[in-house]
Amino acid sequence: MAAGLASSPWMIGVQDHYNCLVPKYPFLSSSNSQSRPPQRFSSALHFRQITGATSSAVALEPEARTQSKEGSEEVDLFACPVCYEPLIRKGPSGFNLPAIYRSGFQCRTCNKTYSSKNIYLDLTVTAGSKDYNEFKPARTELFRSPLVSFLYERGWRQNFNRSGFPGPDEEFKMAQEYFQPVEGGVLVDVSCGSGLFSRKFAKSGAYSKVVALDFSENMLRQCYDFIKNDDSILNSNLVLVRADVSRLPFSSGSIDGVHAGAALHCWPSPSNAVAEINRILRSGGVFVGTTFLRVSSSTPAFMRPLIQSTQNYNYLTEEEIKDLCTSCGLINYTSKVQQSFIIFSAQKP
Ligand SMILES: C[S@@+](CC[C@H](N)C(=O)[O-])C[C@H]1O[C@@H](n2cnc3c(N)ncnc32)[C@H](O)[C@@H]1O
Repeated sequence: MAAGLASSPWMIGVQDHYNCLVPKYPFLSSSNSQSRPPQRFSSALHFRQITGATSSAVALEPEARTQSKEGSEEVDLFACPVCYEPLIRKGPSGFNLPAIYRSGFQCRTCNKTYSSKNIYLDLTVTAGSKDYNEFKPARTELFRSPLVSFLYERGWRQNFNRSGFPGPDEEFKMAQEYFQPVEGGVLVDVSCGSGLFSRKFAKSGAYSKVVALDFSENMLRQCYDFIKNDDSILNSNLVLVRADVSRLPFSSGSIDGVHAGAALHCWPSPSNAVAEINRILRSGGVFVGTTFLRVSSSTPAFMRPLIQSTQNYNYLTEEEIKDLCTSCGLINYTSKVQQSFIIFSAQKP
């Protein structure tokens, strides 16, 4: 095993596929308190009026397209995860949880519809599939568990500090500095987990739209649980979306900033993910990520695939992360490192 991981809380004796992914010393603590700067962007609808339902009521039937009681049809920020054509949205306008929840989305190219399920909008390729189930690698599946999702902000993430993560407040500050050139734009927090940073981005008022996106249904449910009693976020410009980072539901060049906190090592294919991030960013758009580093070892190159395949997470070295960003077409790479923690940023040319 790589020497650089010795201090990582993720390094556990192998028992079974799941046990070995659980951090060594999960302990319970309350979630962080957050400051409330004034909202620069706000929305009109209030979400409480629709809680309790389990799926969106709006379906896009052909005859309903021109006879909407709730609002008109419009081309949306979201795109079809199958063909990347912008989705047509029907329902109340506004970029906030209540409005998205009450809207239906349709791809007219694929003739496929998408709607909200349990608070989040499901924009995975398999949304709506009846018989087909797809399972990702354990490092992705682990976070779909209700228990892990529940524990994540209640002790699990605090463990990261032992590997050099400075903590959510400081990591947020660092990310905000990198995002200065895209203030006022659309920010996607990919692999948002329970929304630790999405909530901070939304509260900051620095972005016109914030998308909290994750593959885990239970992480998104936790995210909603954290925000449901906070009117300042419920009525803000934050929406929850289920999607795969390797198939992002946005048109090419439509996004100003992408954040991915503590996520790259969990992705099934970092190269597909970073290529996707590059695709959705507009020219000048900024990508900011954090992850655990693998400290360079003297392992010969031909042995690396074997070692990598026995590891639960995909830890990269600093050089590999820079190379990954560059080979996916991003420029102006920069990073800061503290023990195994790295925060890096790169830009779309
Ligand atoms: C360690 S958590 C990070 C959560 C949060 N961003 C943070 O900074 O604490 C990693 C997240 O990556 C998500 N993830 C794993 N595979 C994914 C995929 N293929 N697409 C999108 N998200 C994925 C998991 O569901 C999990 O919520």
